[in-house]
Amino acid sequence: MRYFPAFHDLSTRPSLVVGGGEAAARKLRLLLKAEARPLVVAPGAVDEIVGLAREGRIDWQARAFAPADIAGCGLVIAASGRDEIDTAVSEAAQAAGVPVNVVDRPELSTFITPAIIDRDPLVIGISSGADAPILARQIRARLESLLPANLGRLARFAGAFRGAVAAQIGDGLQRRRFWERFFSGPVADKVLAGDETGAREAMLSLINGRAAQQIEGGSVAIVGAGPGDPDLMTFKALRRLQEADVVLYDKLVGPEIVDYARRDAERIYVGKSKANHAKTQDEINALMAEHALAGRRVVRLKGGDPFIFGRGGEEMDYLQARGIAVEVVPGVTAAAGCAAAAGIPLTLRGTALAVTFLTGHAKDGEPELDWASLAAGKQTLAVYMGVSTAGTVAQRLIEHGLSAATPVAVIENGTRPEQKVVTARLEELAGRLQEAGIAGPALIIIGEVARRALESDLAAELQNAAAALPRALAV
Ligand SMILES: C[S@@+](CC[C@H](N)C(=O)[O-])C[C@H]1O[C@@H](n2cnc3c(N)ncnc32)[C@H](O)[C@@H]1O
Repeated sequence: MRYFPAFHDLSTRPSLVVGGGEAAARKLRLLLKAEARPLVVAPGAVDEIVGLAREGRIDWQARAFAPADIAGCGLVIAASGRDEIDTAVSEAAQAAGVPVNVVDRPELSTFITPAIIDRDPLVIGISSGADAPILARQIRARLESLLPANLGRLARFAGAFRGAVAAQIGDGLQRRRFWERFFSGPVADKVLAGDETGAREAMLSLINGRAAQQIEGGSVAIVGAGPGDPDLMTFKALRRLQEADVVLYDKLVGPEIVDYARRDAERIYVGKSKANHAKTQDEINALMAEHALAGRRVVRLKGGDPFIFGRGGEEMDYLQARGIAVEVVPGVTAAAGCAAAAGIPLTLRGTALAVTFLTGHAKDGEPELDWASLAAGKQTLAVYMGVSTAGTVAQRLIEHGLSAATPVAVIENGTRPEQKVVTARLEELAGRLQEAGIAGPALIIIGEVARRALESDLAAELQNAAAALPRALAV
């Protein structure tokens, strides 16, 4: 993040706008919304600025900028449109340590202004860090249509009850839960529908009723985060993540997904890495239980789907045996994500009538699998954790009757920007993986469904070889 987002209180400090044209008028509208009373310095000004000065909403001094104008300002905007003036304003402000924005000149600015959605007192700022302001504006347009116009009224309504809620519900965690329920519950709906009297009555009984209730216990949501692309998370996964007090996450869950957790949520890495010793499953279970029993909402965040090679079942059993409330939120499993990302259907009418998810993980070099049934025809095999045992898997399948020429596609880091797809015939699989430096996480898809991918790779290879031929002959 190149820019730090913050909201300035300009109601108590002077602000300065240098320039009297349309750009200055636009910035003034914004400052006036924030209850500022800006000083405008410009020899001439457009009608709008003259009018604002006449109404006493701004001060306008019809003269050139002087560095002394900066003194005591909370914020400065240079909008003269003249390079030498805007540069002088920027230099003077920076020398005085006052935040400065020069219109359309991020290199001269120490802050930039975001696209704004105004549901006062709720304000949303959207910034592309000056790289793509049009994109920021398009996002604003989309959000504008999603957010009810009455949202500001809802925020004010909640603000009016903050003290009463705090007096009734002393515990911070319980209070946060109360508000989370409030904003997605029927009282908030009443406010948004304009029925403030009904909402007020309902709110009072909600607060009083809530105070009489027992303190709630914690819970664990075992959440599938999908194969890597954050857009493949479900809405429910996102919601649970944003509600969580504690997040325990695995190596396969990227930081861009963990970042959806609340800023004040505790984040505990429980995956394996070279620098960080793995937590054992027993330690992870104990950690989840400890936090949930202390009344916290725990999210156990896992790559893909928690119930597919994710040990979600064991964790659920452990927690339920201790009387802890458990919810499982499914995720897009690696086979589904990788197949889609590589354009390989897992089933295909007449060609692949079944798909089997299997693990290549092996304690003693050989996974314990029913090779004969896996080698039986018209099915797709999706092999998880199979990079190191790929040679053995291929050999056993061939021994049990699967054609050595069966197409295979290996998708490493599927759905992520660094995704790599390698194809091979079954008999060449181990060699191709080594040659391509596939280290994982990778999913191996074995079956006729991978034929198109294999053939287009072979065609590309042939084309490259043909292109290289005249050069080779010329040498
Ligand atoms: C312990 S399993 C977890 C599977 C996970 N629960 C799921 O449903 O996808 C880890 C294996 O999943 C596969 N995997 C997970 N994410 C992947 C990705 N983005 N690309 C390729 N394979 C992936 C790899 O085979 C990896 O070794």
